[in-house]
Amino acid sequence: MSRIVVAIDGHSGCGKSSTAKAVAAELGYAYIDTGAMYRCVTLYFLEHTIDLFDADQVSKALAEIEISFRYNDELKRNETYLNGKCVEDEIRKMYVSEKVSDVSVIKAVREDMVAQQRKMGREKGVVMDGRDIGTVVFPDAELKVFMTADVEVRAERRRKELLEKGEDADLSRIAENFRSRDHIDSTRAESPLRKAEDAFELDTSEMDFQAQVNRVLEEAEKRI
Ligand code: C5P
Repeated sequence: MSRIVVAIDGHSGCGKSSTAKAVAAELGYAYIDTGAMYRCVTLYFLEHTIDLFDADQVSKALAEIEISFRYNDELKRNETYLNGKCVEDEIRKMYVSEKVSDVSVIKAVREDMVAQQRKMGREKGVVMDGRDIGTVVFPDAELKVFMTADVEVRAERRRKELLEKGEDADLSRIAENFRSRDHIDSTRAESPLRKAEDAFELDTSEMDFQAQVNRVLEEAEKRI
């Protein structure tokens, strides 16, 4: 049995991360949430009031950022660490979501993140989700999935998640954030979000979670 790279890209909030996580667990693969990496950079830039247009400040800040992932046995979840501190909850907050796409257009940020992601996936046996995994990070990935869903469905799902965590959950603010991120992510000059030619598209608007996972697993198994 060979080990493959599974690249999952798509629009904001359409269930890429939860699907990728479940697929990775089923295959016994590592899961890498590349959105969490861009969110960490954004959090750091916000905390240190980095001027996004000052290349020098940006590159100095990038050199100070160390991102890692750990599994929390007690909470049974993957957690993202920024310079040794768990930021899993903080990076999901709206104030970070509302800034992350502006940070993700910066060329130096993308080069730094892509280099780290390639290192993390070089042994294969990995499921990675993001916006440019099948097009830029791993253009030779054995399986590429492009996920999408109606923006209203996505916003309602996210609202439920946020409410469960006791977070701010205004439906129109969430939908607006998805629309705005989709727009910035798809129109930026550096590795814009687009479906790779050899990706298969998965519209999850009317699919339940287990069906999404099964569909991806079915495609993965054909390639292993
Ligand atoms: O996946 P998530 O929604 O957490 O990603 C947050 C943001 O990070 C995206 O809206 C996008 O701007 C950026 N991103 C990216 N490339 C990736 C993953 C995320 O530009 N591979």
